[in-house]
Amino acid sequence: MTSRVLTKGILIVIEGIDGAGKSTQAKLLYNDLDRRNIPVIFSREPTDSEYGQKIRVLAQKGRESIQPEEEYRLFVNDRKVHVHTLINPALKAGKVVILDRYFFSTIAYQGALGLDPEKIRAENEIFCPLPDAAFIIDIPTKIGIDRIKNQRNETPNLFEKEQYLENVSRIFDSLNDEFIVRIDGKGGVEEVHNRIRIHVDALLENQFQTVIE
Ligand code: TMP
Repeated sequence: MTSRVLTKGILIVIEGIDGAGKSTQAKLLYNDLDRRNIPVIFSREPTDSEYGQKIRVLAQKGRESIQPEEEYRLFVNDRKVHVHTLINPALKAGKVVILDRYFFSTIAYQGALGLDPEKIRAENEIFCPLPDAAFIIDIPTKIGIDRIKNQRNETPNLFEKEQYLENVSRIFDSLNDEFIVRIDGKGGVEEVHNRIRIHVDALLENQFQTVIE
């Protein structure tokens, strides 16, 4: 019997402002690869680590009580746990790892709070494997805010204020690493999924080897 395995782990990141549709797209991509018997796992940041849980409480209750630097530490500590316990082992095992947010969110969101984006990048790149592709789903801030209000039936929390998200968006726009792929987030869910899928298929094309068991 023969089976197809990946020659190396592949890291795919989905980024964008709140309401961009990242989580929906990450799950669609996961389902698509899983259906094709490609070894894949999905994860998201913030995680459920002790640091991630503190972040989620802050997001609901108000982040004014915490300094940007302290908040930044929580995201970095959460990510260190994520990289060491899940991301690195899965990549080593030859899986596709799909992440809903990664350190580009820290560059953009904590950068928009006044921290230095270059310092954030440098500190994260010390322990974070770089992605094979980082999709940034582009939508106008207003659409993102409307989606949060209408579809999720929620009032935007303090992480989601329009002016703040404008600044976050501007930092996402400035990222120009070779693995960044900008995806138009307007249109239907399937349309956006197909835009992402074209790139993922090209990325995976030469990464398989046939194993005889
Ligand atoms: P979520 O809405 O994708 O669950 O993310 C929770 C919030 O956390 C979202 O508003 C973006 C924010 N965030 C940061 O500010 N910095 C980060 O490093 C990450 C991963 C998320």
